[in-house]
Amino acid sequence: MINIAVLGYGTIGSGVVEVLKTNGDSIQKRAGDRINIKYVLDIREFPGDPIMEILVHDYNVILNDPEVKIVIEVMGGIEPAYTYVKQALLNGKSVVTSNKELVAKHGAELIDIAKERELNFLFEASVGGGIPIIRPLNQSLTADEIVEITGILNGTTNYILTKMSEEGISFEEALKNAQALGYAERNPSADVDGYDACRKIAILSSLAYGMQVDFEDIYTEGISGITDIDIKYAQKLDARIKLFATSIREDEKEVYAMVAPMMIRSNHPLYSVGDVFNGIYVRGNVIGDVMFYGSGAGKLPTASAVVADIVDAAKHLNKNIWTIWSSKKLELMDIDSVKHRFFVRIDKKKALLDDMRRIFGDITEVPEVVENEAAFITPLITEKEMKDKMEHIPGLLSRIRVRF
Ligand code: HSE
Repeated sequence: MINIAVLGYGTIGSGVVEVLKTNGDSIQKRAGDRINIKYVLDIREFPGDPIMEILVHDYNVILNDPEVKIVIEVMGGIEPAYTYVKQALLNGKSVVTSNKELVAKHGAELIDIAKERELNFLFEASVGGGIPIIRPLNQSLTADEIVEITGILNGTTNYILTKMSEEGISFEEALKNAQALGYAERNPSADVDGYDACRKIAILSSLAYGMQVDFEDIYTEGISGITDIDIKYAQKLDARIKLFATSIREDEKEVYAMVAPMMIRSNHPLYSVGDVFNGIYVRGNVIGDVMFYGSGAGKLPTASAVVADIVDAAKHLNKNIWTIWSSKKLELMDIDSVKHRFFVRIDKKKALLDDMRRIFGDITEVPEVVENEAAFITPLITEKEMKDKMEHIPGLLSRIRVRF
């Protein structure tokens, strides 16, 4: 029997308990031993829930119990999660976490501590919910140099954009539904302003390039500026707007990373990734393109990834599974020199398409969707050029990067 402790009995924690109970027999076969939840830590009480029998409020009970071999951190946030996880590793316990904030900020250090002690620090559920992506990057795509990772990495924003587009519901209503379904972060800004996707692409990039990609260095835009009119224009263009988290190695040299809404057409592999689903597209220099797709948020899909890590940790109790993620910082390329085409809407009362031709050169006109507005797509230009030109566009209503 392998004893584990679950820190946090929220959406994911209760999902982990449920998955271990529902699939206990098959999990035992795969892990080679029975996984027993000895403790659940939470500050709250859960009257009437059988969990009360193993509920503790003091982390030291878990930390000082040598029978606990694996600690499952599903509380979220940096503190006290970081302190608890570090203490667990220093006390000889492997750790499984779903906490992307923790992994993005302290992943390199916690991996090192685990390595030094022949323990494991596993975090499959921190990116892509139930989708296996960390293990493939770590263990399967090791023959390749990764040249691009582009993902729809936030289920909440994908759900919101999909519902706005398919059902014509408002941003607020779609967000409320996502929250009720357990997809969203406690603070909605983490989802809608792109911070959650930013941390996830920082984790994937750090693993892909084996060096520390600081999430603070990643240019991040969310979807709060996307309106129903933008969505109508996208539909007119046979396109969809998706929140992309991207990291690309340009010319086999520098890497740039960004999170931003992107207009894509049906020839893009991520076009059909709708609802709460996540999709991650990885390009390797040998394998070519690989796609990962599945539920990116929600109780049971995320718990599935956590439990898969518990099984891996149980199978490798005194053996570290090698992960290359050095604490050496990867200096990202200046985003200003990255090139895109941009979809632009202007107020016709303040500017004309002829003015835009003078500013941008060869623009592509977009059929009118709203009276008194004009819209067009720019040629391929750098972010810096776009920023400079935007200052000279009177009546600019919106601009969205385009990948077609
Ligand atoms: N709020 C996150 C999302 C949860 O919507 O994708 C999974 O990390």
